[in-house]
Amino acid sequence: MLLQKANGLSHPHFLNTADLTQEEIQALIALALDLKQGKVQKSLAGKTLATLFFNPSVRTRVSFATAMFKLGGQALEISSNNVWSFEYEDDVVMDGSTIEHVKEVAPVLSRYCDGLAIRCSELVTRSAESASTGSWAESKRDIVLNSFAKYAGVPVINMESNVYHPCQGLGDAVTIKEQLGETKGKKYVHSWAYHPKALPMATTNSQLLGACDLGMDVVLAHPQGWELDPEILALAQKRAIESGGSFSISYDQHEAVEDADIVCTKSWGALPYYGNWEAEKQARAQLKDWIIDEEKMARTRHGKFMHCLPVRRNVEVTQGVLDGTSSIVIDEAENRMWAQMALLATYLGD
Ligand code: CP
Repeated sequence: MLLQKANGLSHPHFLNTADLTQEEIQALIALALDLKQGKVQKSLAGKTLATLFFNPSVRTRVSFATAMFKLGGQALEISSNNVWSFEYEDDVVMDGSTIEHVKEVAPVLSRYCDGLAIRCSELVTRSAESASTGSWAESKRDIVLNSFAKYAGVPVINMESNVYHPCQGLGDAVTIKEQLGETKGKKYVHSWAYHPKALPMATTNSQLLGACDLGMDVVLAHPQGWELDPEILALAQKRAIESGGSFSISYDQHEAVEDADIVCTKSWGALPYYGNWEAEKQARAQLKDWIIDEEKMARTRHGKFMHCLPVRRNVEVTQGVLDGTSSIVIDEAENRMWAQMALLATYLGD
């Protein structure tokens, strides 16, 4: 790792919220809300953030560009279709399709830019035809993100990898704090939802960890077989205890949402079926009742509904819930920008 420290933070890069202490996370949340309310101003004048997108994006792309603009700096977008194809493995003979090694790319970009932000995630991780690895163990290496972090001389921000989407986790934590004020003792439910595709679990992992940092009673609800990676579950348990909250798992969506203050839903693929879409397709076809609807929201304690977006209407959540007064999905998307402004000011600021 070329970069040892970023402004005194406990980790030089923002790859996973759990790399930071809970005090550091609380400070980022407070700064995001202060920035949103106009209580403080931060400047990144003259600074450049390179945003490297290897996948499509609406919110992340626009919120990072706007965050840098509002801070007086600039975001320079790099897409996989307008740069050379990069190599990440060590000790390879590069006589194939890759043209440039990350060992040169990352330090070169670090000479031009003050931070690098990377989005590189398997889009449909368990579909053999669309996954490039077909193995969770291989995907979990997050080789693109971790290689940039290894060879960059400036902070690297994870804009969603195979394992984590920490900007979503932080943005959601800002939104929950904004909505509830005191979060300790409040109930947060993160529920799996039916979806016609097997989506990555990075967003869920980070949303879960974000809630566990808030001292909430966190319930993860999903069908049996859709368990998250054991390392994530252990981390969620640890962070929940450290924050004075709790963490439990439910296999019953109706039961889980009872008295919830926040209901957040997201679909993800089942690890046992990783790379075996045909088997997962049949199993998940039986789970179409895993949808957040008006009846489930009525069981909550006037709970708010969250989703990271993009969302499939009347598949993951009914349009009645999504268009109703309990839905805070637009605030949630907006707060990505304020959270990232806090992040950028903290990591890239003088
Ligand atoms: N929630 C989120 O990351 O949205 P995008 O994929 O559109 O950036």
